[in-house]
Amino acid sequence: MTTVVAPELDLADLSFWRRPPKERHEAFARLRQLEHPVFFEERRVPLLRSGRGFYALVRHADVVEAGRNAAVFSSEPAVTSPEPPGWVKHVFGESMVNMDDPRHARLRRIVSRAFSPRMLSNLQGDIERACARIVDDAVAEGPQDFVRQVAAKLPIHVICDMMGIPAEHRARVHAHVDVSTAYTGVRPSLFRSLRMAGANVLALLALQRLVVRLGRERARAPQGDLVSALVTANVDGERLTWRELGSFFSLLLVAGNETARNTMAHGIKLLTDHPDQRELLLSDFDAHINGTIEEMVRHVSPIMQFRRTVTQDYDLRGLHLRPGDKVVLFYGSANRDEEVFPEAGRFDITRKPNPHVGFGGPGPHFCLGANLARQEMRTMFRELFTRLPGIAAVGEPELLLSNFDNSVRSQRFTF
Ligand code: HEM
Repeated sequence: MTTVVAPELDLADLSFWRRPPKERHEAFARLRQLEHPVFFEERRVPLLRSGRGFYALVRHADVVEAGRNAAVFSSEPAVTSPEPPGWVKHVFGESMVNMDDPRHARLRRIVSRAFSPRMLSNLQGDIERACARIVDDAVAEGPQDFVRQVAAKLPIHVICDMMGIPAEHRARVHAHVDVSTAYTGVRPSLFRSLRMAGANVLALLALQRLVVRLGRERARAPQGDLVSALVTANVDGERLTWRELGSFFSLLLVAGNETARNTMAHGIKLLTDHPDQRELLLSDFDAHINGTIEEMVRHVSPIMQFRRTVTQDYDLRGLHLRPGDKVVLFYGSANRDEEVFPEAGRFDITRKPNPHVGFGGPGPHFCLGANLARQEMRTMFRELFTRLPGIAAVGEPELLLSNFDNSVRSQRFTF
């Protein structure tokens, strides 16, 4: 059962993701009009297991249903396409994002300690100081690239702070993250792909070793930081193993870094391109900043897709799914579904309700860091608009070619 609607709508083909965002949104709008989700052939990527194809879920209702019903729509063996090769699991340990309950629930219970309202409120002072320093440095250097000078700096700083990574190791974390994120783009050649994969593996392994060493120190002499909380047992005797601690740190770096960075980078461009919305925000920052951030996440959809694997026979709006079928949840498409978001292409900071799925659908895997990301972005935009009221993006962003991250490599700006 293979239905490719039209070659130019082949979501598995990289040439689709090379097209300008406007064209891609129009293509998804056409797909949403079809009666059934569509089955596409998946391209085979050498050395990576890719399987036989996937159903594209492009409507809001379908993405929500799949996210919510984790018993049918499993996150195992992996939520990315193509699936990482088996050795990755053995080398790095498993990530909770690729697990179902009860294994997922146990891990989520433990690491949720990191994201409790109390933990987040303890971080606020530090986030404010970091934003002030970042803006100081941008002012001293003069405006060049918003991504490098502003957006890329905050999320990684916050993750290091949460994990209590000592100052002397931070430069190493930054360097490793640079290598790892270079790999998230679409790979132009097999040779380059293998070289980058090799560098990425070494970078992540080094980071995991670093945090495990910290964990061992904290287990011997606990301090008030998160690593101490994760490696010492709670009342139910639950704690992370060393291997789980290493995988969790890698997950935070991957999940919490690019996403917030790209939302801020696209966000400054959106506020520049929509002067009426910017004026409205600045007329009463406190009243409008939360709506602005939700609308940015909806409009941008920093993560464009995640996958699920069907565990049992299931009817989804008349489409019969079988065990082993793969479905891909296109968040960017669901977030533009006119049935839920009138004038979905418009950037409207007063949109209410705004049930976007930018942080994932409601369900067990809903973004654990959503409130932290909101807090980071709120604080950074407050600092930027207070100190640099004339701040604006200049020209068009340089986008990274990817079918997964809606990633901005660079965005010129002025203030
Ligand atoms: C604008 C910023 C962000 C966006 C758009 C975003 C998006 C997402 C999405 C779509 C998922 C769902 C995965 C799934 O359904 O399989 C997810 C999960 C997750 N996110 Fe985020 N994220 C953001 C920021 C962060 C931050 C700052 C952190 C932490 C520092 C974080 C940590 C996580 C974790 C740990 C998960 C896995 C949850 C689980 O499997 O139970 N995210 N995120």
